[in-house]
Amino acid sequence: MTNSAPPGSAAELFERAAPTYDRTGVSFFGPLGAELVRRADIRPGDRVLDVGCGRGAVLFPAAEATGPTGHVTGTDLAPAMVTLTAEDAARAGLTQVDVLVDDAQRPDFPPRSFDAVLAGLVVFLLPDPQQALRSYARLLRPAGRLAVSTFAAQDPAFDAAMAALAAHLPADQARPAPPDDPFADETRIGATMAAAGLTVTEIGKHRIESRFRDVGHWTEWMWSHAGRALLGRVPAERLDAATADAARALDGARTPDGGLCLRTTIRITVAMPATSHQG
Ligand SMILES: C[S@@+](CC[C@H](N)C(=O)[O-])C[C@H]1O[C@@H](n2cnc3c(N)ncnc32)[C@H](O)[C@@H]1O
Repeated sequence: MTNSAPPGSAAELFERAAPTYDRTGVSFFGPLGAELVRRADIRPGDRVLDVGCGRGAVLFPAAEATGPTGHVTGTDLAPAMVTLTAEDAARAGLTQVDVLVDDAQRPDFPPRSFDAVLAGLVVFLLPDPQQALRSYARLLRPAGRLAVSTFAAQDPAFDAAMAALAAHLPADQARPAPPDDPFADETRIGATMAAAGLTVTEIGKHRIESRFRDVGHWTEWMWSHAGRALLGRVPAERLDAATADAARALDGARTPDGGLCLRTTIRITVAMPATSHQG
């Protein structure tokens, strides 16, 4: 498979991650995707768009909810994600699913094409999330639902481990300060959605516990998703020391059996086009 994504782009990062993304035996993306679909209230016969579908953590439960009378289109900018997820869908005999390369920043579909647009852990990766949300509002039919998940809180041990890894970056590549976050809290989310022409109907939190056999398993998981952006920038000769420091930072998450348990909380926001909500 060719990888034509620009070096350093999100698409390139996820292209490399695709073969192992959500395939390391860690309970994380799967249950979070299922919860997003549950809150979006997908019904049999619905037409659904899942932007940034990755390996299908949202797409497969959505396809189960629509059933064969509905349709789910998954899109991703990373061709490997698209190819592998399409193969999984075909293997599962899901004739109501198709998977395409498309940009979640500006999805290429006619207005009012979908009963629901789903975006699992992706909008904060986009260059202009508000503009993207505005385009999702246009894709929804009247009474259609947008459901978006974003991070609410990481486990303190995870944050400490990320800081420990970042301390090993070359001085000229220090982690940039986090950008202004339009999904930082419920007030910001409400304002972001309103500015995109959407009315929030629900913002709920969902907490998940993820278990790892040991630090090696945690490191394998980190390479399988966006965590690889940080790991990949640690110079090779510092990687062992960086991982050892991360292991110490993860001590607070140790379980009696020698494993690790990390708790992550996401927010799930459900919104409707403002006009259909008023009407
Ligand atoms: C954190 S993963 C989430 C995947 C999936 N929704 C899930 O819940 O597991 C983010 C996904 O968004 C994709 N992505 C990033 N930027 C994108 C863009 N501009 N357009 C489409 N997909 C994008 C990545 O390739 C990756 O598959």
